[in-house]
Amino acid sequence: MSAAEVRIGLLGLGTVGTGVVSIISRHQEELRHQVGCPVTIKKVLVRDMKKNRPVDLDDSLITDQIEDVLFDQDIDVVIEVMGGVESTKEHLLTALRNGKHVVTANKDLMAIYGAEILQVAAENNCDVYYEASVAGGIPILRSLTEGLAADRITKMMGIVNGTTNYILTKMTQNGSSYEEVLKKAQELGFAESDPTADVEA
Ligand SMILES: NC(=O)c1ccc[n+]([C@@H]2O[C@H](COP(=O)([O-])OP(=O)(O)OC[C@H]3O[C@@H](n4cnc5c(N)ncnc54)[C@H](OP(=O)(O)O)[C@@H]3O)[C@@H](O)[C@H]2O)c1
Repeated sequence: MSAAEVRIGLLGLGTVGTGVVSIISRHQEELRHQVGCPVTIKKVLVRDMKKNRPVDLDDSLITDQIEDVLFDQDIDVVIEVMGGVESTKEHLLTALRNGKHVVTANKDLMAIYGAEILQVAAENNCDVYYEASVAGGIPILRSLTEGLAADRITKMMGIVNGTTNYILTKMTQNGSSYEEVLKKAQELGFAESDPTADVEA
């Protein structure tokens, strides 16, 4: 990775991607302090180039060609927030084989292909971080793999899903109906437009 700068290729500019861009932009100083160098967005992949975006991004950074991210030698880290499973897996494997570290919020992908993705990452000396795919980003995975590394965990119990947590809390506290709270969660961007993966058994 470039020591002078961490350069990001962002796959997706929807609910989560927009949040990533605005956090990186708003917290540029803190990030630079923590990481030790500036963190910059070099390219952003979208499906529809004509869509209006609620973020302040130079048009030249936006592309609808995945190759512009995967084969850009200047990109160090690929952040995947586009969703999808089969083709997205292939994109991330290509990114790793090209020496790019990967961050993903994609629970479906990691549940099905996590082992293979981590294996390819190890073969290419790259990191894969997927904390955002579990429990709305509550730092559970890192606590388990690092903080509790010396412990032998036999069971974990709880609601490890941010959307479900929000829905159950609001139903309990306000007595609202499930449908009402799910709609609100979708409006707030906690629940996805297709909430199946979060709310179905
Ligand atoms: N929403 C949440 O609260 C939440 C929480 C945790 C994890 N996640 C995970 O984060 C990921 C993104 O969720 P989201 O809610 O942000 O989704 P979203 O709002 O639907 O955004 C998806 C973005 O990816 C782009 N995209 C999708 N398929 C593409 C393709 N084939 N080629 C190019 N661009 C493509 C879309 O482009 P256009 O804008 O041009 O359509 C859009 O910008 C999912 O894996 C989801 O499970 C979401």
